[in-house]
Amino acid sequence: MRNPNDAQNLALVTTPSVDLDAEADLTRCGALKDFWYVACLSTDLTPGKPLARTLFGTNVVLFRDEHGRPVALRDRCLHRNARLSAGAVFHGRIGCPYHGWVYDASGAVVEVPSLGPKQCGEALDARGHASAGLQVRPCDLGKLQRFDTLEQDGLVFIFMGGDAMRARRPAFRVPYWDDPKWTVYFMVTRFPNGVTNLVENFMDVPHTVFVHEGWFRRVASKRVPATVKRSEGSVLVTYKQGEDTVTGLGRIFNPGGEVMVHTDHYFVPNITRVDYMWGERSGFAINSQVTPIGPTDSLVYTAISYRLPYDLPRSLVARALKPLVKWYTTQVILQDVEIMKVQREGLLNGPGGGVFTGTEADLLHSDIESYRRWLREGGHGPGPGDEERDIVFWI
Ligand code: FES
Ligand SMILES: [Fe+2]
Repeated sequence: MRNPNDAQNLALVTTPSVDLDAEADLTRCGALKDFWYVACLSTDLTPGKPLARTLFGTNVVLFRDEHGRPVALRDRCLHRNARLSAGAVFHGRIGCPYHGWVYDASGAVVEVPSLGPKQCGEALDARGHASAGLQVRPCDLGKLQRFDTLEQDGLVFIFMGGDAMRARRPAFRVPYWDDPKWTVYFMVTRFPNGVTNLVENFMDVPHTVFVHEGWFRRVASKRVPATVKRSEGSVLVTYKQGEDTVTGLGRIFNPGGEVMVHTDHYFVPNITRVDYMWGERSGFAINSQVTPIGPTDSLVYTAISYRLPYDLPRSLVARALKPLVKWYTTQVILQDVEIMKVQREGLLNGPGGGVFTGTEADLLHSDIESYRRWLREGGHGPGPGDEERDIVFWI
């Protein structure tokens, strides 16, 4: 006898919730590329040195031009396709490690060592050059693809979607970056999973009692009511738990036992911001920007911003506590790296991966997926509509 749920089951089996392959492919990711992505920390880009990065499966070389501005070019020499990032940077130009062709910050070939001092073909005539598909001068050799860049709040951003005027949003501002009352530092972590799964993990409370047991929260059989608001490309989750608390380092932030206000916020397409506030004077914000390398490989730039409730000079307390806060956040992140690896192993095992199911606790995840699916399919029209709903789950 036919199961009335067959049609539904079939739909679940054949429609992946996420398509990690397409999401991380520059030619198939639709409007997901039309945003600024973090390419590196400002401090990673030292003058005179090239830096290799991969975004959406595309190799990019970054360096600083003669004015110190970040430059991003396709990391593939026009001559015989060697990776330029293995070469050298001098006077704001980059030289290929294979035959020494030199490119300027616009991606144009400005010097070909084998052409000698005249920088012009000498023996072969114009017809000879043309019939063999060769060029007479460096300026005829074409240009490397160049990507727009922007430097802000200690981060270098890159725009992979063509002209940056097309960017759907400005580059994200790091929380409290310019606020002297707050301390901010970055962590860069390579995660073995794709953007959708990572932003879901960073917004996910139910996993904390399993993956971070004792580090962050304990299984306490607590009922957690929350509001999920989907609007204008963001998903805001406000937890309405009078006596919610975090263990571990949380005690240092909240010696007075203030009520903790916890919000999780997702912004299209790749950003999360998690805030814990204890009264007016103490808080902890974790902002993660995920840069896709490939389908199940990402670099996550995490900005940790914190403010402590003590009256001692800020710099003194913040400096004293920074190693501890850094050690703690590193341990928590490494636990997430491990579980993302475990998820990837399940996801990639044979066909059918990427088909997810869920319950009320996963409403925010389906909202994230609906935005990302809409963008991957081109981001046409108004996109998922605004909605606000209450949910309850247990931890
Ligand atoms: S491959 Fe780059 S100069 Fe030859
Ligand atoms: Fe986690």
